Amino acid sequence: MKPNQKSGSSKKNQIEKMFDSISIEYDLINSIMTFDSHKRWKKSILEIAKKIQPKNALDIATGTADIALNLGRISNCQVVGVDISEKMLNVGREKISKMRLSNSVRLETGDAENLKFNDNYFDLVTIGFGVRNFQDLEKGLRESFRVLNKEGTLIILETSVPENRIIKLFYSIFTRTYIPIMAWIFSKDKSAYNYLLNSAELFPSGTKFSNILKSVGFADVLIKPKLFGSSTIYVATK
Ligand SMILES: C[S@@+](CC[C@H](N)C(=O)[O-])C[C@H]1O[C@@H](n2cnc3c(N)ncnc32)[C@H](O)[C@@H]1O
Repeated sequence: MKPNQKSGSSKKNQIEKMFDSISIEYDLINSIMTFDSHKRWKKSILEIAKKIQPKNALDIATGTADIALNLGRISNCQVVGVDISEKMLNVGREKISKMRLSNSVRLETGDAENLKFNDNYFDLVTIGFGVRNFQDLEKGLRESFRVLNKEGTLIILETSVPENRIIKLFYSIFTRTYIPIMAWIFSKDKSAYNYLLNSAELFPSGTKFSNILKSVGFADVLIKPKLFGSSTIYVATK
């Protein structure tokens, strides 16, 4: 299943099916492809979040709920995770029950571009490796802006392309060799990983993405590149 292919269904529909199809192996492949670094980056989100001391947080495109689970460890913080892929959520639900975090974390089916929450509701919104899959990026970001309270914070973790030319060359060789080989070995759905790779290279990052955040109303966008700029954390305030 490969989003953007010519077919009757929308990109959203194709994305939902694609993540449903890779839900069981998603955590393993994520670890293989990032050399487990994604866990460190998600911990960085937790460290930033702790300083905000949120009472309620929303993790959009929560998938198998890693970020939601981390946030669930902040004392007195209620966390909701939403995603369009029910099968990714089911993997997340198993993790919640294993980690006995069902008092602080709950997962719901939900679309980033049509959130079912009131305006100015959350202290914190997080989105890990989700924005580049949105059908309408600006609509999704405007929804995050709407549900955040006045002093709320948005933290986004997304893949990015290194700016340094030499590192970019190594990055390009790496993504075109190691990742397809790993996808071929470990994944049932090879085309899903081709999509994920290509979309990573095309998605705006760094200052370009920060400008998009500002254009929908966010202020003070901090850009924190990780692993030579192969991923970036953006911290923005409403
Ligand atoms: C690469 S996974 C990221 C999962 C998790 N946040 C993480 O960091 O590992 C992307 C997730 O975004 C979800 N997604 C894509 N478009 C969405 C949308 N419009 N609304 C909610 N979730 C969406 C997919 O179903 C998938 O679970």
